[in-house]
Amino acid sequence: MNEDVFVVAIDGPAGSGKSSVSKEVARRLGFGYLDTGAVYRALAWHALDHGIDTSDATAVVEVMGDFDLSISLDPDEYGVRVGDADVTAAIREPRVADAVSGVARIPIVRHAVNARFRALVELSGRQGVVVEGRDITTVVAPDAPVRVLLTASPEVRAARRSAELTSEDAAAVADALHRRDASDSAVADFTTAAPGVEAVDTTELDFEGSVRAVLALVEQKQEVHDAR
Ligand code: DC
Repeated sequence: MNEDVFVVAIDGPAGSGKSSVSKEVARRLGFGYLDTGAVYRALAWHALDHGIDTSDATAVVEVMGDFDLSISLDPDEYGVRVGDADVTAAIREPRVADAVSGVARIPIVRHAVNARFRALVELSGRQGVVVEGRDITTVVAPDAPVRVLLTASPEVRAARRSAELTSEDAAAVADALHRRDASDSAVADFTTAAPGVEAVDTTELDFEGSVRAVLALVEQKQEVHDAR
């Protein structure tokens, strides 16, 4: 990864507050924001758009050949496109959420999207980028100056998710979250911090507290980085 761009790598499970915290940290630092999960989701959308079952790895790899993705790194103008289609909202639909782990499980796919993530950061033209996902601290940017694992208790994660999805009942949300955890943990260990990765437990923190905890880690590392 280009060392001129200051990377803040943030991993964590669904409902840890990862996306909203990462976006806000990027805003306050004037950094770019890269939501890597959105890229996996966009590829799942693309496969579904071609009528492909995402459990068919060969077919997914084939459609990856014409996966024309554009993703904004601006935390205030977040948007994802595949070809001419604006898929920003569509990639959050349950049919995509259900299909995405099939895509994320394919090693060639992971390899290809990781190269794309690194290129997006390097060509961002920004001083820094907050990159969030499941394997950013370990695989995508293991040399990033700031590496954070955001965690929260399963109960708190389920409660946060059901507050976001007001139309669904809490038990169904908790159930879906546990299923997501199980399928996501097949591709990356996002529950324990790798060596050198700072774990930030947000169970007892509100949004502002979580943002500040991450910013404090960035400030520490920026001082060291700037002193070099
Ligand atoms: O963070 P999210 O829910 O938008 O992620 C969507 C899916 O992509 C989820 O199944 C986990 C997977 N993912 C991954 O395997 N590696 C990443 N770096 C980011 C997401």
